[in-house]
Amino acid sequence: MPAELAVVGLGYVGLPLARRACEAGLDTVGHDISPAVTGGLTAGRSHIGDVSDAEVRRMRARGFRASTDPAVLDRARTVVICVPTGLTAERTPDLEPLRAAARTVARHLAPGTLVSVESTSHPGTTQEIVRPLLEESGLRVGEDFHLAYSPERIDPGNSRFSFRTTPKIVSGCTTLCAKHAEAFYEQLVDEVVVAAGTREAEMAKLLENAYRYVNIALADEAALYCGQAGIDIWDVLRCAGTKPFGFAPFRPGPGVGGHCVPVDPRYLMARAEEQGFSFRTLHAAREVLDAMPGHVADRACRLLREHGTDPAGARVTLLGVAYKAGVADVRESPAFPVARALRARGARLAYHDPRVGSFTVDGTPVPRRLTPEEACAGSDLVLLLQEHEEYGAVPWDEVGCPVLDTRGTARGRRVTHL
Ligand SMILES: NC(=O)c1ccc[n+]([C@@H]2O[C@H](COP(=O)([O-])OP(=O)(O)OC[C@H]3O[C@@H](n4cnc5c(N)ncnc54)[C@H](O)[C@@H]3O)[C@@H](O)[C@H]2O)c1
Repeated sequence: MPAELAVVGLGYVGLPLARRACEAGLDTVGHDISPAVTGGLTAGRSHIGDVSDAEVRRMRARGFRASTDPAVLDRARTVVICVPTGLTAERTPDLEPLRAAARTVARHLAPGTLVSVESTSHPGTTQEIVRPLLEESGLRVGEDFHLAYSPERIDPGNSRFSFRTTPKIVSGCTTLCAKHAEAFYEQLVDEVVVAAGTREAEMAKLLENAYRYVNIALADEAALYCGQAGIDIWDVLRCAGTKPFGFAPFRPGPGVGGHCVPVDPRYLMARAEEQGFSFRTLHAAREVLDAMPGHVADRACRLLREHGTDPAGARVTLLGVAYKAGVADVRESPAFPVARALRARGARLAYHDPRVGSFTVDGTPVPRRLTPEEACAGSDLVLLLQEHEEYGAVPWDEVGCPVLDTRGTARGRRVTHL
């Protein structure tokens, strides 16, 4: 029996989509090139923080199957592509996984299928890259099959907005493609927003993340300025944040992480550059954001010296190495460049993160401390990088060394804020 839905790429985006589809009663299969991913799911184990093992087992009970064999895509009524769109070693957009996935889908495409791309990419990707690869099947978009783009807005660790309650943008290569996409996603979410075309939907996703990128950079730069001018940035933010309109609060920190905010603007900048357009706000934001880990390391070293400790050989413990609070994901985490900068100054590092079981920087593992108390004891400096909720309970006043808090949440005699 062909599946109603086949999800290609079962990661942070694909697995929650498959979970929602199973919940909505769709016969769902998943294809991933990673045997570890499909093997784990088949054994009832989740590899994604926001999806529990019990939920995977419920999906399995509803008929969900995951396989490395793309034959599971055969004649699926809808295929959704959720493969990574990260950066190459040179930090340029890497569209190879998307191209590979499109070629695989093309080999299994049947007339009447809706293919929806959810991977984030620059405007034009669906029409100019995915469409020709799918048409290598001999089938034509808008005549034989439907092609849509629907950006994913999942926010890992966010318990307030779920897949169902977050409005979903959909778009199609033709009006009919968009209508098919709208009908498909209406089964899964409360609100579907139809974009004028695939490029508008692609650009909407990039604009959402560019907005975060620029505003985080603004908060970071305001923090640097306030630090220099002797103004308390955290109080500034508390006051400005009371404005009920026209101001969305963003907070400074050690830099941006994850697979979206630091990555997506690079897709937009690279594409704009190819078209002879320079996105000046994004370039300026990148400059500020890229400098933040080094700035944090400098502050840490200054604080050590103020307390009579030479940074070379100092014991520095990083608290919270995930890319954001409440998640176990370290992808693109600013903890990496902060750790590198501190190591370059000779600091001896350890880390604590309640969710991250191992943290390896440039091939060298950083020793893990199992509790915040153990992390603080025996350190010359504690560097709070991420505001995991567990750190709310730490008695900062009792910590025996200086604490540099990059998030503005800790209070205590020995705490210095960014
Ligand atoms: N993680 C997020 O919070 C988030 C939010 C919104 C949008 N996105 C976008 O969604 C897309 C997927 O991101 P993710 O975080 O789920 O990535 P991920 O790395 O968690 O998962 C991607 C999965 O795709 C698999 N894969 C790679 N190439 C494949 C191929 N050719 N065929 C089949 N499977 C393949 C990988 O093995 C992996 O399991 C990206 O474009 C990302 O930018 C991510």
